[in-house]
Amino acid sequence: MTDMQKSLMDQYHQDLLGVFGDPGLVIEKGNGCLLEDVNGKRYLDLLAGIAVNALGYVHPMRVKAVNEQANRLAHIYNLFTTPQQLALGNKLSELFNSAEPVQAFFCNSGTEANEAAYKLARRFANQHGKKTILALDHIFHGRTVGALSLTWKPAYREPFEPLPAGINHIPATIEALEENLTDDVAALFVEPIQGEAGVLPLPGGYL
Ligand SMILES: Cc1ncc(COP(=O)(O)O)c(C=O)c1O
Repeated sequence: MTDMQKSLMDQYHQDLLGVFGDPGLVIEKGNGCLLEDVNGKRYLDLLAGIAVNALGYVHPMRVKAVNEQANRLAHIYNLFTTPQQLALGNKLSELFNSAEPVQAFFCNSGTEANEAAYKLARRFANQHGKKTILALDHIFHGRTVGALSLTWKPAYREPFEPLPAGINHIPATIEALEENLTDDVAALFVEPIQGEAGVLPLPGGYL
């Protein structure tokens, strides 16, 4: 680690709450699939923000869209909507190509998406007199309280217990599904390809 990286890491320890272990590098900028650290050293990025930066860094279409919107309008809260929000909702609905109506809920992260799905499931359960939500062994769904209660790994869960009750983790097998999918179940949470568990697809025929 160079002197500059070391002094930035000292700053990191002083000013930021270390919830995720020490960062491996101090990255200054990116382009396409390349990243550059504060010393100008370049790296081929095989991580892509854990597989979410699908367009790579500084993609011109994304930069243009963000710039245009930043020059037009930013946060307005949910008391109003915008033409852009409506257009994206409509586009997503079209992409689902479903006979059933599909409605979007916009949020900022995977954790929030799962937190919202958990709340929808819990509300459905309460309205329909059901008690159980199923989730799969080894899955990761995020770190807010609801998403964490769906997440399997004891090391992530235990420091924050007690977590919301009524979530049963079951093995990711068709036999366990058949055994546990009773009338009392309001929802089943799955990762179609389990990430943290080691990039494991669900068994054939499961979904
Ligand atoms: C399968 C899965 N679900 C949810 C999350 C949480 O998403 P986020 O980090 O955007 O909150 C992650 C993050 O790694 C994930 O891998």
